Amino acid sequence: MEIVKVKNYEEMSEKASTLMIEKLNNLEKPVLGLATGSTPEGLYEILIDKNKRNEVTFENVTSFNLDEYAGLKNTDPNSYHHYMNEKLFKHIDIPKGNTHVPNGSASDLEKECQDYEALIRDKNHVDIQLLGIGGNGHIGFNEPGTPFTSRTQVINLDESTRQANARFFPSMEEVPTQAITMGIETIMESKEIILLASGENKAEAVESLINGEVTEDFPASILQKHAHVTIIADEAALSKVT
Ligand code: F6R
Repeated sequence: MEIVKVKNYEEMSEKASTLMIEKLNNLEKPVLGLATGSTPEGLYEILIDKNKRNEVTFENVTSFNLDEYAGLKNTDPNSYHHYMNEKLFKHIDIPKGNTHVPNGSASDLEKECQDYEALIRDKNHVDIQLLGIGGNGHIGFNEPGTPFTSRTQVINLDESTRQANARFFPSMEEVPTQAITMGIETIMESKEIILLASGENKAEAVESLINGEVTEDFPASILQKHAHVTIIADEAALSKVT
């Protein structure tokens, strides 16, 4: 694991954009794995800006998002479809047909998961996977206890995850209880992984990610076994790492 320590959220986003653009510019048809949540928002703003300045193009990029809430329509303001359109896709030159987010309102969610896996496989897996980390160690929405051999699947969200994400919903009752997520094995098949972490509230998780035991009780720990992971984290997120 390569650990890049930066000062704060802004520097984390800057550093991530530089690394990502360098890699994108070196690939003919890049396959990007994307995340939602608060962590990558700053990165997406910079990518939009650099795309407008012609420093990077997404014309040949295919993207796969990590996850989507089950039961939300793609137009729901809290869906990750909506998030991705608003925060990235509609502002850049990526062909809309090249973007993929699991369909959480599919009538057959199991089939949706299998189809999503097949699409990723058809593209010969993700080249650069962007990850955040949950306070409980989740990557994607793979909660503690998820087998390391898991593929794209429907999962039950942990109470702690629902609470952490409740800030986006009008009330706790409206936070979905299930989601579709790329599996841990699916994520591990990515050729490169960039994990971002910012803030004191990620410090314990980042410490376990870097120094903890590799265990299914802490899903992100599996990244210690991946050959090509870069963690870009700020001082606060790295404050418990000695
Ligand atoms: C989002 C995702 C999650 C988040 C994690 C951290 O697509 O897969 O694993 O990366 O929950 O979320 P934030 O960035 O909001 O702290």
